[in-house]
Amino acid sequence: MKTIIEPFRIKSVEPLRMTTPAERAEILARAHYNLFAIRAEDVLIDLLTDSGTAAMSAEQWAALMRGDESYAGSASFERFEAAVKRLMPFRHVIPTHQGRAAEAILFSMLAAPGLVIPSNTHFDTTRSNIEAAGAEALDLPCAEAADARASHPFKGNIDLKGLETLLRADAGRVPCVMMTITNNAAGGHPVSLANLLAASELARAYGKLFIIDGCRFAENAWLIKTREEGQAERAIPDIVREMFTHADAMTMSAKKDGFANIGGWLALNDDDLAREARTRLILTEGFPSYGGLAGRDLDAIAQGLFEIVDEDYLRYRVRVNEYIVERLAAFGVPVVQPAGGHAVFLDAKAMLPHIAPLAFPGQALAAALYETAGVRSCEIGSVMFGRRPDGGEAPAAMELVRLAMPRRVYTQSHADYVIEAVCAVHERRKLLRGLRIAWEPRALRHFTAKFEPLA
Ligand code: F0G
Repeated sequence: MKTIIEPFRIKSVEPLRMTTPAERAEILARAHYNLFAIRAEDVLIDLLTDSGTAAMSAEQWAALMRGDESYAGSASFERFEAAVKRLMPFRHVIPTHQGRAAEAILFSMLAAPGLVIPSNTHFDTTRSNIEAAGAEALDLPCAEAADARASHPFKGNIDLKGLETLLRADAGRVPCVMMTITNNAAGGHPVSLANLLAASELARAYGKLFIIDGCRFAENAWLIKTREEGQAERAIPDIVREMFTHADAMTMSAKKDGFANIGGWLALNDDDLAREARTRLILTEGFPSYGGLAGRDLDAIAQGLFEIVDEDYLRYRVRVNEYIVERLAAFGVPVVQPAGGHAVFLDAKAMLPHIAPLAFPGQALAAALYETAGVRSCEIGSVMFGRRPDGGEAPAAMELVRLAMPRRVYTQSHADYVIEAVCAVHERRKLLRGLRIAWEPRALRHFTAKFEPLA
């Protein structure tokens, strides 16, 4: 059979509330054109994020009942730790309440003023945690990443030459090298195994820790299996294990490829670093056998980690995005290619050339998508990355709008509806106007900033 189906059936449903364009225009104005300020009830299809929004399986719900809520040494922790180590063979696994808590602990140990931490592209919370510790977060994406329509299979790769130049010139200022798989902030593209291994070798040649932000490790492994030469016959867990064997540490948000609604971890090999991390964990998260989570959350993650590496699931997961990208491209919509693992990215800079980067074309497009069809998306451009640590403002490298797919939540007809919505906005793109920021917070402004449409 050629048709790729959702490899599950639905046992429990949540109704969607319909709204009219006129209602949504009012809701949008009341939210100051920030989609984070809209009530979820007022959203028809919520593609704001794939984080914590997955539908858990019947087995995961059953696992919740097995949760052991003992303060110390719970059986849930043992199941969680074993499930992580089965895929990622680190010596120490330290649970946290989500990914950014693992980042905060890691960079409170590794980052300091004067230091620089390179990555293929830091996600916003990673960048902010590094900057909060006074260090510089340096993005070194490969050259192909800048061309939204280049068909390179691994546009998530790090620029190895750039990394080597940095290490050769300034190794003393680099405490570690990071790799984000998949590369969320630069279009959701995967990193190839070859690139990952080369970056790891470089880091280790200079005596630096090599750290993986593994949020979407299973999607990255699937894209290695299907796109990288010599990998097609390998099992997904095998590819996953190889990726992490070459790392000294990892940060993880189980809200992505953990199939969980909350959770994360920091894993390390170094005993001294792990000891220090656990001390900091107790201050901010909790005892090392629960780290800010309930025992039942640890069990949901343990079960999720078995399900996420299923090939039928991953095939369907990636195919949905490919389908949407193919349809949009055929309609002439500027969309980032090839499709990544967790999201479809629209190229707002190409779609709305009449809106200057600092009038936020991505935000304008996201607002229009909501008003037209009730679809909530997320700007990944100059709103998210335009404010520099020194207080200045500069356009981001790309102006993207991300349609992030919650895992196992929406169906094929939802995908068709989203395609129709994007095409409808694309047809009247010349009428869209930019925005200005009327208020913004000190950091991570995209979450709470208030906007006004430009005249
Ligand atoms: N790293 C990456 C690559 C991420 O995408 C995220 C979260 C984090 C770290 C932080 O994890 O949310 O559990 O604290 N990304 C979400 C998103 C929020 O919408 O892309 P967290």
